[in-house]
Amino acid sequence: MIHLARQIQPEHIVRDATIADVDSIFALMRTYTATGVLLPRSKADICDNVLKFSVIEYDGETVACAALEIFTSELCEIRSLVVDERSSRSGFGRMLVEELICKANVLGLKRIMALTYVPEFFHNLGFTTVRKEIFPEKVWGVCVKCHKFNDCDEIAVVKNIS
Ligand SMILES: CC(C)(COP(=O)(O)OP(=O)(O)OC[C@H]1O[C@@H](n2cnc3c(N)ncnc32)[C@H](O)[C@@H]1OP(=O)(O)O)[C@@H](O)C(=O)NCCC(=O)NCCS
Repeated sequence: MIHLARQIQPEHIVRDATIADVDSIFALMRTYTATGVLLPRSKADICDNVLKFSVIEYDGETVACAALEIFTSELCEIRSLVVDERSSRSGFGRMLVEELICKANVLGLKRIMALTYVPEFFHNLGFTTVRKEIFPEKVWGVCVKCHKFNDCDEIAVVKNIS
């Protein structure tokens, strides 16, 4: 007998985060903060900065997040980018980076950077590897407070926004 029932595929939504996403963002990040891939952020810090986050909701669940951090009138950073392992390689990472680039463009920013262990992912999206030192705003404003400051092996990538 032919089964005619059609499976309904869940939809994904890319949207600004709300306070209701704080616990999910914290949980998404915890997987990678535990192994040092991402810098830890407390729930209070995520809550304070929730306006900077975009998320992807899939089948009613928050499965990916990323935050846009502004350094100067020209430069911003992609921070706290995570896709749930179960949704890995589904294009969600790309969607979030594109969403943040779009936000940065609307804001009139000129360059977007990230510090990362996965430069190949960013190269795929048009970023170029550069020396961290070209971002004194990041290095002396943020990195200097990090426990990895003297031993940082993250790679800096940047893309011009047009
Ligand atoms: C890195 C990460 C955000 C990628 O998200 P994702 O949803 O799996 O990636 P996408 O499916 O959007 O991939 C987009 C493209 O990048 C490629 N890509 C994804 N992850 C990659 C990786 N680790 N290395 C090389 N290429 C990668 C994909 O193959 C795809 O290429 P295509 O468009 O030619 O097919 C995700 O793996 C993650 O959360 N990693 C752990 C946390 C982390 O390292 N965050 C980055 C901090 S800066």
